[in-house]
Amino acid sequence: MANTVLVGAQWGDEGKGKIIDVLAEEADWVVRFQGGNNAGHTVEIGSERYVLHLIPSGILHPGKMCVIGNGVVVDPVALLEEIDGVEQRGIVTKGRLFVSDRAHLVFPYHKLIDEYRERKPAAGTPIGTTKRGIGPTYGDKAARVGVRVGDMLDPDFANLLRERVEANNKMLIASEAPTLDVEETVATYLAVAQRLAPYIADTIPMIHDAMAKKQSVLLEGAQGTLLDIDFGTYPFVTSSNATSGGACTGSGMPPNRIDRVIGVVKAYSTRVGEGPFPTELHDAMGEHIRKVGHEFGATTGRPRRCGWFDLVVARYAAHVNGVTDWAVTKLDVLDDVEEIKVCVAYECDGRRYEHLPASARVLARCKPVYESFPGWKTSTKSAQTLEDLPKLCRSYLNALARLTGTPISILSNGPRRESTMRLDLAAAVISA
Ligand code: IMP
Repeated sequence: MANTVLVGAQWGDEGKGKIIDVLAEEADWVVRFQGGNNAGHTVEIGSERYVLHLIPSGILHPGKMCVIGNGVVVDPVALLEEIDGVEQRGIVTKGRLFVSDRAHLVFPYHKLIDEYRERKPAAGTPIGTTKRGIGPTYGDKAARVGVRVGDMLDPDFANLLRERVEANNKMLIASEAPTLDVEETVATYLAVAQRLAPYIADTIPMIHDAMAKKQSVLLEGAQGTLLDIDFGTYPFVTSSNATSGGACTGSGMPPNRIDRVIGVVKAYSTRVGEGPFPTELHDAMGEHIRKVGHEFGATTGRPRRCGWFDLVVARYAAHVNGVTDWAVTKLDVLDDVEEIKVCVAYECDGRRYEHLPASARVLARCKPVYESFPGWKTSTKSAQTLEDLPKLCRSYLNALARLTGTPISILSNGPRRESTMRLDLAAAVISA
């Protein structure tokens, strides 16, 4: 398999976990490159359902090597719980899962700060974060006061952490937020460090040694393009680069070794948390999509906001990621819909936008311009090839490919591994 980056092309929750699981079969290494346990990747294998937050989905394939890269922020307690959870289900992690010594650590004070900022947002509006401490941890990384995974192996780790907990307690006191017991926190994390030690490694030479042996790497993104700190609907974003550039900076993989960038899109759109969402549906159709698509967060259980497919977003995601081909998921969720709409442009303040505006305030005022497609009103759940799909469904998919200028190579019509079609990119149908 070619070295491949897989990214979300909407607001996260595009069904990346399942597609990574399918592609992991062909890869030798699966590398997570950003985000933290704010993500939740759901994979269904037979009657078993796995929800992974930090561990790459490749772990579910025996023999595949998995890396949590330097761009990830790691809550070590959450990671150990996840390791225990998969080990209890018979999955071996030792010798297969490695955490970069350069990745930054999430501590309880980051979560307290995250909660406090959501309660009393500086900009007046909360972001609707997952409260997993993600923003404050990346903030410490940029401010150069972070503690990294490799520091856990340093003889001075206790002092380093003690100093950070004391400094953050002062900030929390000033904010009238709860504080941490310094010595209890240090003791807890010394024990955690000991348990995590066998997984900590310099993962950069590992990835390069693998490539030198002609092994292939699958780089697994979390969240999505519109939640990217640079390209998303700022400030309603996460704090990392969820786009393909982040795959390089978050793993040590150089750009010239990446052969393919798969963008994952749902056949419609969803968003969790606050922030603009031009195609959001506040009516019975939105409810229908939420119900049929089981659109509730894998990490927080929050109901997702649902809406029509947005071509402005998809074209933008294709540009900033260099998407070579799409994986379209949750096609079957639209099976019962009479008329399917697709947003082709926005209108705002008397102006037509074909490109995504930078300002979240402008985007919040944008009204979608729709094109309509007749629904296929037939179940696609059992389809195994493109020819099994109703003609109207193929027309819809062809339109998505044509209007984004990007071919579709993977179609998902159900949560199971088997409900996945791999399409011939050279074929005339579903091409750009
Ligand atoms: P944070 O990443 O917890 O700081 O949250 C920032 C924003 O990103 C919020 O709107 C979250 O709902 C959203 N977010 C974070 N992780 C995910 C995810 O995995 N899927 C969808 N939205 C996410």
